[in-house]
Amino acid sequence: MSFPDYRPRRLRKNENFRRMIRETDLSVDDLVCPLFVTHGSGVKNPISSMPGNFQMSIDNLVEEVKKIKGMGIPAIMLFGIPETKDEEGSGAWDENGIIQQAVREIKDEVADIIVITDVCFCEYTSHGHCGVLNGSEVDNDATLELLARTALSHVRAGSDMVAPSGMMDGQVLAIRDTLDEAGFGDFPIMAYSAKYASCFYGPFRDAAEGAPQFGDRRSYQMDPPNSREAIREIALDIEEGADIIIVKPALPYLDIIRMARDEFDLPIAAYNVSGEFAMIKAADKLGWLDGKKAMMESLVSIKRAGADIIITYFAQEAAELLK
Ligand code: PBG
Repeated sequence: MSFPDYRPRRLRKNENFRRMIRETDLSVDDLVCPLFVTHGSGVKNPISSMPGNFQMSIDNLVEEVKKIKGMGIPAIMLFGIPETKDEEGSGAWDENGIIQQAVREIKDEVADIIVITDVCFCEYTSHGHCGVLNGSEVDNDATLELLARTALSHVRAGSDMVAPSGMMDGQVLAIRDTLDEAGFGDFPIMAYSAKYASCFYGPFRDAAEGAPQFGDRRSYQMDPPNSREAIREIALDIEEGADIIIVKPALPYLDIIRMARDEFDLPIAAYNVSGEFAMIKAADKLGWLDGKKAMMESLVSIKRAGADIIITYFAQEAAELLK
């Protein structure tokens, strides 16, 4: 059927027609809200490149989580900023580390919200790399045991799901084995499987104070021009025991989300990262585009590309509009 018999505009005539034939639904159920926790009390430091986001001490964090739960958002994802850093990043697996304390407190105070914890070392190491160093290289295999130890300490503190983001080879297997041996076989792993070495993490590195002190992350995170490699990375993580896979960033990698959706059955999360958030906020502030509309269009495009879950700093603002 072609013009003039077929006229696509017939079904765009008004909002009811558009609503009826809409192919993609964005829902508050899809959202995960990332949060930054720091030491101290009464702390709520605004993050300048991420308006509306804060480094919060645990007392304020708990209040924020209550608010997020009240908005119907099903999950938060926690990033910790430790008081001190060292070569190995030992604060990451400290039983009284910032994440462990925060998770315990949230679990005591707020019922019925999923707490996901990021498992990585860049916020905890003095050099800012995502694992232990051997010379100036990140030592993959030496890092695995420390990642597993960290993930176990998170789950022991009450984390519902761990999300290893360091892009070490074998990290999902190391964590799966350790959790299983410790009796946590029913705790899922959300794996950052296709995580690219992206400049869009810039604002996050200020927020989490985890910028590398020398070099960059290109020897462990993926090279942006690659897509077939993403499929291999995801396949490996699924074999190693991942329950949910993450593609990160989201908007510049919608093709990767789509490929992953076509290739795999597992739930896919897309991480709408700090730089994607900051761009829209900046343009909105300049009056160059409508920030709320740009937010909703971006989020729906991530869903349309094939993501089931969207990790986004827009979670609360979007939830407001989706009510
Ligand atoms: C830790 C980590 C990073 C992000 C999430 N986990 C930073 C990085 O890899 O440099 C970035 C998230 C964002 O930009 O919103 N490895």
